[in-house]
Amino acid sequence: VSEVARVKNLNKIQMGDALVSTWYFSAYPAEYAHIDVLYICELCLSYYPSPFTLKRHRSKCALQHPPGNEIYRHEEISFFEIDGRKQRTWCRNLCLLSKCFLDHKTLYYDVDPFLYYCMVKRDDKGCHLLGYFSKEKDSAENYNVACILTLPQHQRHGYGKLLIEFSYELSKIEKKLGSPEKPLSDLGLLSYRAYWAEIIVDLLLNTEEDISIEEIAQKTAFTHADVLHTCMALNMLKQYQGKHYLVLSDAVIAKHAKTAKKNRKRINPAKLVWTPPS
Ligand code: COA
Ligand code: NA
Repeated sequence: VSEVARVKNLNKIQMGDALVSTWYFSAYPAEYAHIDVLYICELCLSYYPSPFTLKRHRSKCALQHPPGNEIYRHEEISFFEIDGRKQRTWCRNLCLLSKCFLDHKTLYYDVDPFLYYCMVKRDDKGCHLLGYFSKEKDSAENYNVACILTLPQHQRHGYGKLLIEFSYELSKIEKKLGSPEKPLSDLGLLSYRAYWAEIIVDLLLNTEEDISIEEIAQKTAFTHADVLHTCMALNMLKQYQGKHYLVLSDAVIAKHAKTAKKNRKRINPAKLVWTPPS
């Protein structure tokens, strides 16, 4: 890709009811590069240059939900697992769409090595994509998330944390500790830090006995490094008479209470029906 082509091309995308501005370059075909608004089918994620062409497509589009197995359904939220190798076009369209909001130098247009976990909200009009994360089928570094995205029209409603929570529920079933692929974007890092802190503080507040970094990792599926960094960031590591303790300051407890009051949506692990792909 030439330098020129790296300049952000599109301005906006229309998806369902939402008209959103794009953030970064995405490699949509050259003939779409200079149009102002790209119209995207909410279900198959294919793209059209005008409301008319989208509408014509919508009258024929047969998809009712993302093209994979529904592995989770609770209240109005469902997750679908999609194999990049089996659904190349759909997954490439997802990558093109998400590249509009991701600054990474390399986004994988080779979708075969990945599984895509897509989160939708169901209402009387059907399924609406909220966000997704991708996961390497075979990660040498034990990454449990490659890319993660909440569509901009749905950001700051706790869906990022819901995606992250889901990724760790998969790791628990795999009996592995997981961590997202590095480097994370600024927003990715903010969200992960907030998530790790919320879960670790919550666990400590609800544990009577002493608990070690190792035990926190086992209970959460967070890596030791992520647990340790979070505890350090929250200034929780204290030494007293030669022994190490995890101590929650009043400030950390107060911040946690504020987070808890938001009552964000949670994953119900009992509703996840999944065995790790072999
Ligand atoms: N400014 C400050 N803090 C932010 C933030 C922002 N714009 N976005 C998220 N956070 C922090 C907050 O602490 C937030 O919790 P709060 O709203 O209770 O304060 C926490 O992260 C999680 O927010 P949540 O609403 O669960 O996340 P989200 O649905 O907005 O999704 C991302 C988070 C990272 C998935 C989303 O920003 C995104 O898709 N970004 C573009 C793609 C990307 O960079 N992905 C990561 C790299 S692969
Ligand atoms: Na939020």
